[in-house]
Amino acid sequence: MVTLTINGTTHTVDVPSDMPLLWVLRDVVGLTGTKFGCGIAACGACTVQLDGQPTRSCVTPVAAVAGKRITTIEAIGETPAGKKIQQAWLDLEVVQCGYCQSGQIMSATALLAKNPKPKDADIDAAMSGNICRCGTYIRIRAAIKHAAKGA
Ligand code: FES
Ligand code: FES
Repeated sequence: MVTLTINGTTHTVDVPSDMPLLWVLRDVVGLTGTKFGCGIAACGACTVQLDGQPTRSCVTPVAAVAGKRITTIEAIGETPAGKKIQQAWLDLEVVQCGYCQSGQIMSATALLAKNPKPKDADIDAAMSGNICRCGTYIRIRAAIKHAAKGA
């Protein structure tokens, strides 16, 4: 049994200690907004936040996150930075197919919460691990800047 705090709610789950957090979120807890892409920490689709840090849930064993504050795409809009980022994504119509976007938003929100006025280099560094097959990178960068203006 592992006890997790996900989006402010406590969940006790009966799973193997080495099960990836992504599996637990999607298949056990039923939070399917976090996506599976590569399974090897190479694409960023599975990004969640652990105590505010963007983390690849596909390679994070569930036992390693007990006691941490886990935030997923389902609740990121309840944070000040997450609210700004999600509104900016809508204002600039960032999304194409959408598959990568949960992870993009989780990384972008972590950046904005830590650095309210990120420069291009900061954005590139924070977002470089999030791959988008649709090539929405230019709109993502613009949306982060839009959010930083307080939009
Ligand atoms: S599914 Fe985790 S980084 Fe690709
Ligand atoms: S919007 Fe399609 S993969 Fe990023």
